Amino acid sequence: MVKVQPPRALEHGGHEIDLLREGAALVGLLRPLDMPGVARQLAARRITAFALELIPRITRAQSMDVLSSMATIAGYHAVLLAAQALPKIFPMLVTAAGTISPARVLVVGAGVAGLQAIATARRLGAVVEAYDTRPAVKEQVQSLGARFVELALETGDAEDSGGYAKAQSEDFYARQRALLGERVRAADVVVTTAQVPGQRAPLLIDEATVEGMRPGSVIVDLAAEQGGNCALTQVGRDVLAHGVQIRGPLNLPSAHPAHASQLFGRNVATFILQLVKEGKLALDFDDELVRASLLTHDGKVVHEGTRARLEMSTGSDAGASCPPVRGETRRSSP
Ligand code: NAI
Repeated sequence: MVKVQPPRALEHGGHEIDLLREGAALVGLLRPLDMPGVARQLAARRITAFALELIPRITRAQSMDVLSSMATIAGYHAVLLAAQALPKIFPMLVTAAGTISPARVLVVGAGVAGLQAIATARRLGAVVEAYDTRPAVKEQVQSLGARFVELALETGDAEDSGGYAKAQSEDFYARQRALLGERVRAADVVVTTAQVPGQRAPLLIDEATVEGMRPGSVIVDLAAEQGGNCALTQVGRDVLAHGVQIRGPLNLPSAHPAHASQLFGRNVATFILQLVKEGKLALDFDDELVRASLLTHDGKVVHEGTRARLEMSTGSDAGASCPPVRGETRRSSP
């Protein structure tokens, strides 16, 4: 069974998990870290479940990476949301009635979504700059025609072995907020995408900085569901604060269902072909791909991080009792 979202309770009683045959295999975005209770239920039903979020970031698995596919669409759509809300147009225009200066866009977090946001804003004609704590992305930012913002912060050790950002100290984030503030205030549009796996999204724009922005400016906070990169973001809502429009959208890939579904389908089909031989599930537990993405098997929750979350949680609804983590809904639902 392939599913986009984790199995859920049915409207008229029962649960989708009960509809699965015992021993069946399930593949989907199962939100193992922020809804670990689902894994416990799947294990109890003896389902062999694979969480697409856990697919390792290795070269071989790139064509199976659903998170990257959804982040690409989210980054694109974030810029469209900003362009729609901004009272200015994006490109520079030289007309008989005078010259219009281009919109200034700042992208904070230049991962998959951020790089696509940069590319989209550039295509619309904006002047774009971007910042990320991982120095490795400087070249990628520049290759898209954007300026890489350098802050006086020590970030040499900012990347883990999987290519993700590492969490920084509160002191670091406080200094980052202060230094980044100047670039935020200069921008017409800020798109924030900064995330650290397993943590609340870092707070990078405080209220005083928003207050210093020009009225009419727009912030699109793609980290809204993980707590937001801006202090004033409200998840799933558009708010107006100090004359600045702050958008905290959810589930942006669903705005482009045709391509979100196409990419999701290709990613999942490629993944499943790795697990099947002659029409049957043939799991090779020595394969890094299987080891990393397997959530439940043989009646047990086998993913270590999920087991740790379950042990941390007390009540019956393990999902609700855990702190927000790198939730996947933003990028998950075609
Ligand atoms: P993400 O969604 O976890 O984070 C988005 C961005 O926010 C990252 O670039 C991160 O460095 C940045 N960030 C975190 N804290 C920040 C802060 N305080 N200030 C500014 N920026 C901050 O990451 P995403 O986009 O899913 O992937 C990150 C990287 O993973 C990619 O750029 C790539 O190098 C690697 N990757 C590898 C793949 C593979 O090998 N299969 C597939 C996709 C990505």
